[in-house]
Amino acid sequence: MAPSVADIKPIESEKATRDISRLPANTTEDKGASYPYYLPYFDLNEKFPKTEVFEFSDVGLRANPEKPNLLTKDVKLRHISPYLGTEVTGVQLSSLSKEGLDELALFAAERKVLLFRDQDFKDIGPKRQIELAKHFGPIQRHPTSGNVKGYPEFHVVYRDAQNDFFKDYLGTDRTSHTSWHSDVSYEKQPAGTTFFFILDQPETGGDTLFASQVEAYNRLSPEFKKRLEGLRAVHSGIAQVELSQRLGGPVRRLPVENEHPLVRAHPVTGEKALYVNEGFTRRIVGFKREESEYLLRFLYDHIAKGADFQIRATYQPGTVVVWDNRLTVHSATPDFSPTFRRHAVRLTPQAEIPSEYVCT
Ligand SMILES: [Fe+2]
Repeated sequence: MAPSVADIKPIESEKATRDISRLPANTTEDKGASYPYYLPYFDLNEKFPKTEVFEFSDVGLRANPEKPNLLTKDVKLRHISPYLGTEVTGVQLSSLSKEGLDELALFAAERKVLLFRDQDFKDIGPKRQIELAKHFGPIQRHPTSGNVKGYPEFHVVYRDAQNDFFKDYLGTDRTSHTSWHSDVSYEKQPAGTTFFFILDQPETGGDTLFASQVEAYNRLSPEFKKRLEGLRAVHSGIAQVELSQRLGGPVRRLPVENEHPLVRAHPVTGEKALYVNEGFTRRIVGFKREESEYLLRFLYDHIAKGADFQIRATYQPGTVVVWDNRLTVHSATPDFSPTFRRHAVRLTPQAEIPSEYVCT
């Protein structure tokens, strides 16, 4: 009989402490986390039911293309690359109307990554933060990562001298810690418009790399695009759960694997994007192992080498990054010493079942 999620336990012999709710300060000068409320919380007994399929209609579909409620006269935009990334100042996400949030979904799809500066978002409290993000879809509750007690919608990213999660997750035997992925692509309905807000950051470093999967697709020849047409790949959450078990972390839901098209179309803009990522894509359906590895390796290298369709998202106090996980891949940049604290929180609304075609 298949195990239930309640049967999945951490491996005791390798159990690591995951309770950092009473985290000591790093040094005598260190006053601790600026937002201790959002320190990662790990309850090994927390269990979630299987994720059910839900109806989804992107709110960007009903947005006014002129975006009068989002891009008011006070707003300043600075495009980071022609293909993706725009820095936005002069608007508070927390003050947007329903129409403004619809326009945000459209703008995030068009520009792929938006860096909102000087936001009060981190100070508006968990209920309001969740309410705003829920406008874009039901928020994924992560099966393994640190969350916030009572609010499993939060995915907490945290590193300091006593808690080097990057080392846990990425190992120590790699020449680079770049790790391209699209969040939770193993879900039947993976992430869409996604929020990430910074609470503590190192003086230098800790940027997030983003690549446009639309431009990665556009760079391919017509003949190559034809070969990708109709192909599907398996995305897996199993390794993530196994790692959490090894580290003594929680397993709140049984891991899932889902097949998605290699190329997906955005439901609002119609743009086609590659939808493979080294973090979670495992194999191409119907290909033999070597064939699958060969093609996926090419696509991963093509994306990773595309410095001319990538950006670095930088952080300042008050930065909120909003991006479309359907059209991009990203990687953390753990280039800073763990003596610095980096603390951030993600809210991950889920979207449609990926499709190669826009359904009308
Ligand atoms: Fe991520």
